[in-house]
Amino acid sequence: MSAQIYFEEYGGPTVLRHGDQQLPEPGPGQVRLVNRAIAVNPVDWKIIAGYMRDFRPLTFPAVPGTESAGVVAAVGPDVEGVAVGDEVIWTGFMGGYRAEAIVEAAELLAKPASIDFEQAASLPAAAGTAYSAVHQIGVAAGDTVLVHGAAGGVGSAAVQIARGLGARVIGTASPGNHEYLASIGAEPVAYGDGLVEAVRALGTVTAVFDSVGGAGSTAATQALLPDLSRAVTAVSDEHATAAGIAAVVAHPDRYPAVVALAEQGIIRFSIQDRIPLAEAVKALELSQAGHVRGKLILIP
Ligand SMILES: NC(=O)c1ccc[n+]([C@@H]2O[C@H](COP(=O)([O-])OP(=O)(O)OC[C@H]3O[C@@H](n4cnc5c(N)ncnc54)[C@H](OP(=O)(O)O)[C@@H]3O)[C@@H](O)[C@H]2O)c1
Repeated sequence: MSAQIYFEEYGGPTVLRHGDQQLPEPGPGQVRLVNRAIAVNPVDWKIIAGYMRDFRPLTFPAVPGTESAGVVAAVGPDVEGVAVGDEVIWTGFMGGYRAEAIVEAAELLAKPASIDFEQAASLPAAAGTAYSAVHQIGVAAGDTVLVHGAAGGVGSAAVQIARGLGARVIGTASPGNHEYLASIGAEPVAYGDGLVEAVRALGTVTAVFDSVGGAGSTAATQALLPDLSRAVTAVSDEHATAAGIAAVVAHPDRYPAVVALAEQGIIRFSIQDRIPLAEAVKALELSQAGHVRGKLILIP
């Protein structure tokens, strides 16, 4: 038997239930994965709340979670290139909040030994999105990039990727996160009143990545960057759409590329909390509150 978190109706995090499941043997193309770390993302509580129900309806009971890292414990027929004992990163749509899982071998990436399970599990969504965004706006040495939400999972990865490309980075966060932003190479500014003036006092912005969305971030982007072709957002809401700010588009090379950047020490997440899998409700409530620094990790 293996522990899992599931839900049988859309709603807030408290619809989640904790139970055990009997795992089948892995079928053709599948492996049994023993998870060592499961990353929490805002999309998890958004899916549970039903934000995607119109275009990607769920079959209940459903298990949340889109990424984890662990060890392969069994391999089904017709699997090539993956063996028992391999340390891997898994990313897929739903099913991650499990101590053990049957997953498609095609959804696995090799985990380098130099990256721990928590860092590895955090890479696909946060760093993958940041990588796509930074490359979509063509960040290079000589740029001054503004990152809205620089202390979050996606934003902190974007800061580090842009710094790795030689850009100067200005990042927004609440004052309590300014020391952290400085530690990852961003010049911190507070969001809210005075944001545009504070950024202007630091220099001229040449590209913007918004990982926050909403009226305030969008208005600041418009004020600071006349050429919005160099702005991109991870939160394509009505404000970004009205302003004509492009949504981030997944870059085909993002997963291997971010694993390589983590191996090189360019991307390293702050892990705000490690929370037992059985307490997934607490993790999702923290994520929903919107002030996680770096990543939250569920430990099976
Ligand atoms: N389109 C895509 O493919 C895609 C992929 C991944 C994520 N996303 C979306 O991108 C967003 C960010 O994801 P995430 O994983 O980075 O979330 P997260 O880690 O939960 O972000 C939390 C961070 O947001 C910061 N924050 C909150 N309000 C802010 C504001 N007004 N201005 C600046 N920073 C603010 C907080 O900093 P303080 O505590 O200092 O306030 C906190 O560090 C989510 O909406 C997520 O769903 C989209």
